[in-house]
Amino acid sequence: MKKILGLVSSQRKLANGEILIKEAAASIGEEFELELIKLPELNLQPCKACYACLVPDQRCPITDDLYFLLDRIKEADGIILTSPCYVLGPAAITKLFGDRTIALVQHLDELWGKPCVIITTAGIKGWEGYTLSALIASARFLGLDIKDAHMFLGALPGETLVNPESMERIRALGASLFGKPRQSEAGQCPTCWSELWKFPTPNHAVCPLCGQEAEVRYNENGIQWNFSETGHRFEKEALKEHFQVWLVDQVREFGNRRKELSLIRNRYKGQDKWIKLN
Ligand SMILES: Cc1cc2nc3c(=O)[nH]c(=O)nc-3n(C[C@H](O)[C@H](O)[C@H](O)COP(=O)(O)O)c2cc1C
Repeated sequence: MKKILGLVSSQRKLANGEILIKEAAASIGEEFELELIKLPELNLQPCKACYACLVPDQRCPITDDLYFLLDRIKEADGIILTSPCYVLGPAAITKLFGDRTIALVQHLDELWGKPCVIITTAGIKGWEGYTLSALIASARFLGLDIKDAHMFLGALPGETLVNPESMERIRALGASLFGKPRQSEAGQCPTCWSELWKFPTPNHAVCPLCGQEAEVRYNENGIQWNFSETGHRFEKEALKEHFQVWLVDQVREFGNRRKELSLIRNRYKGQDKWIKLN
C-alpha cells in the first residue's frame, strides 16, 4: 500500500487544494493511505538566516514543527504539494516552508527522488502569477522528483472540479505520482517545468529557477527554442555544492571579513526608531 502525504496551504475547509489532493490520490491506481497536513496549523517560523543549519549534522535552531514535517515527508512514498495563489504568488505559508528547505538540504540523500505532484489553485485565468513556479522551486530544493505540476482554476471552494476537463487533468496528475511523469509543455522549461523566463538579450533565454539556457529564434512557425546541454542548479551535486560547500565558505568568509564589514554596518547603528508592539 502506498503512503501519500498531502500538504495543504489553504485555511479553507474542503478547499480546492484539499479536494484536488483527494481526487489525485484516488487516481493512483493502487491501494493507498492518504495523510494530510494543513501547513497553517503547524508552528512554522520564518528563517532567521543564522546559517547554523549548514554545519554538518546540526539542525535548524528554531524550535518549531519543521522536523516533524520533514519526518512525515520522509515516511511518505509520495508527496502532493498544494497551494492557492494569493496575490499572484503562493500563499505565505507555502513560501515560508520553501524558505526553510535550506535547513533540509542536509537530508537531500534521504529525500532525493521521492515522487511528488504539485497542484496550485487560482481564481482567475491570467491571474495565476508565479505560483506554480514557486512550488516547483521548493519541491526541487527538497530533491523531490516532480512527476506532474498543474494550475487549476476556480475561485469558489469546489469550483476547480466543476469542469470535466479539470477532473480529467487531476486524474492524470494523480496517476503520474507513481507512474510515468508528464513531459514538459510548450513554453515551460524542459528541465524544471517553470513557466518563467528571462531574456537578457533578444535571442537568449534563461530559466530564472534552474538556470537552463536557450537560444531563441523567431520565424514564421513561432518561437524556436534551442536548449543548451548545460547542467542546472537542481541537480543533486549542484545543490550539494551550493548548500554544503559554497554557502559554508560564505559563512567562513563572513568570519574572516567581519571587522571590515562591521565598519560599514556600524555606521548605521544607534539612530534607530523601531516601532514595537506594546
Ligand atoms: C488573499 C487572497 C488572494 C488571492 N489572490 C489571487 C490572485 O492573485 N490570483 C487569482 O487568480 N486568485 C487569487 N485568489 C483566489 C484563490 O487563489 C482561489 O479562490 C483558489 O481557488 C483558492 O484555493 P483553495 O480553495 O485551495 O484555498 C486569492 C484569494 C485570496 C484569499
